[in-house]
Amino acid sequence: MKGLILLIVLIGCGLVCGLESVRYENYKVYQVRIDTANQYKVLSNQEKQLKLSSWREARQLGEYSDIMVPPSSQEQFEQLLNNFKFEYTLKIANVQEIIDQQIPKQRSSSMDWTQYHTLEEIYDWLDVIEARYPNIVTPFTIGQSYENRTIRGIKISYKEGNPAVFIESNIHAREWITSATITYFIDELLVPRRPGLIDIANNIDWYIIPVLNVDGFSYSHEAERLWRKSRMPSDPTGECIGTDLNRNFDYLWMLTGASDDPCSEIYAGPSAESDPEISQMTAYIDNHIPDGSIKIYISLHSYGQYVLSPWGHTDQEFPEHYPQMMHVAEGFANALIRRYGTVFTYGSSATTLYQVSGSGKEWAYAVKNITIPYTIELRDKGQLGFLLPPEDILPVARELTDGFIGMINAAREANVL
Ligand SMILES: *[C@@H]1O[C@H](CO)[C@@H](O)[C@H](O)[C@H]1NC(C)=O
Ligand SMILES: *[C@@H]1O[C@H](CO)[C@@H](O)[C@H](O)[C@H]1NC(C)=O
Ligand SMILES: [Zn+2]
Repeated sequence: MKGLILLIVLIGCGLVCGLESVRYENYKVYQVRIDTANQYKVLSNQEKQLKLSSWREARQLGEYSDIMVPPSSQEQFEQLLNNFKFEYTLKIANVQEIIDQQIPKQRSSSMDWTQYHTLEEIYDWLDVIEARYPNIVTPFTIGQSYENRTIRGIKISYKEGNPAVFIESNIHAREWITSATITYFIDELLVPRRPGLIDIANNIDWYIIPVLNVDGFSYSHEAERLWRKSRMPSDPTGECIGTDLNRNFDYLWMLTGASDDPCSEIYAGPSAESDPEISQMTAYIDNHIPDGSIKIYISLHSYGQYVLSPWGHTDQEFPEHYPQMMHVAEGFANALIRRYGTVFTYGSSATTLYQVSGSGKEWAYAVKNITIPYTIELRDKGQLGFLLPPEDILPVARELTDGFIGMINAAREANVL
C-alpha cells in the first residue's frame, strides 16, 4: 500500500514535489565579463571539457556571459578565469537550492500568477476562457508535438478587419516566465480595464501560442528544470535529445550561430523544419492566417531584457525596415520602463560576438514579410536568470503589458499598422 502511494506521488507530481530526476546540487552560476575576442574563444573552447552550460552569452565585448558549472569542474573553471584575467562574480552558489525554494507549498487550484503552472494547468485555464468568452476567443491547435501533446493557441479578436500580432512563447522550455506572463496578458485583453488596453484589445487581433515547446516544457517541469530544447531524438546513439527550435526555422538554416552537433544546446535539427513544432506552426501561419494580416511577430524568451530584431546572421547590413523596427522597439522599451524602471536594450541581434540564423523572427521577416519581427528577452539581467522567482511573475507581466501598449502606439506612428 505504501509503495502504491509513493508510486502515485512519483507519477503525479514530478518537479512540483521535488522529485525531479536531474538535480543541480552545488552547481554554480558565474557572471563573466567578456572583454576580448580571445577570452570569448577560450570559454567556447572549454565548454565541453568543463561541462559548462551557457545560460546567456555576451552579445558584445564588455558584456557578461552567465555560465553554469557543475561541482566537478568549478576549480578548473576558476583557474581558467584567473589565468585569462576575466572579471567575474559568483551569481548563484547552489542552483538546486533556488529551485527547491521555488516549489510551491501548495498548488493553487486556478491561474493566479503567483506560481508557475504546468502545461495541464495552462490548458485547463484555456478551456475556461474559451468557454467564458466565446465571442472574443477563437481556439486553434497547430497540431501535435513529437511526443503527441496538442499545441494550442488562441486568437483574441473583438471585431473584423483588424491587423494582427502573432506571439509564440516558451519555445525554449526552461523560460517559464514567458508563458506565465503571456497568459496574464491574455487575461488583460479579455477584460481590459484601462484605455490603453481597451484600445489594443479592440483594434488588434492577437494570435498567441502560450507554450510552443510543449514537450520540453513538460519535461522541464517533471524531470530537468533547465531543459531548453525539444524532445525529438536526433542522435542515432540516443545519447542526445532535442532540437533548439529557435534554430530550426527555414531561413538561412544552419548558416551561423547554430550547431550540427545533436548534443549541443543550439543544435539546429537534422534539417530545416525537422521538428513538428516548427513545421506545423509555419504551416498554420501559411494556411490559416490571411496573407499580410500579421504586422508584428514576437518570439517571447528570457532572459537579458532585450528587444532583438533582424538580422541575426550579419551585422554588416541592416534590413530595409530597420528604422521602423527600432522606432517600435523604442516605443516598447519606453512604455515598459515607466512602471518599475526596468531597462530593455534594443537593436539587431547580430553583433561582433555571436550571430544566429534559423530563428523565428528571421523567418517572419524574410519569408513572411512581417515588418516588425522581434525576439523579446524578458527579465532579468542574470541575478537568477531562468529561475526568476514566482513573486516576479506579476510585475514582469504588468510591465510587459505596458510595453505592448507602447509597441502598438509606436507601430501606428511608424505606419506599420
Ligand atoms: C504519437 O502517436 C503516433 C500515432 O498514434 C504513434 O505512432 C507514435 O509512436 C507516438 N509518438 C510518441 C513519441 O509517443
Ligand atoms: C515577400 O516579399 C517578396 C519581395 O517583395 C515577394 O517576392 C514575396 O512573394 C513576398 N512573400 C509573401 C509571403 O508575401
Ligand atoms: Zn530563449
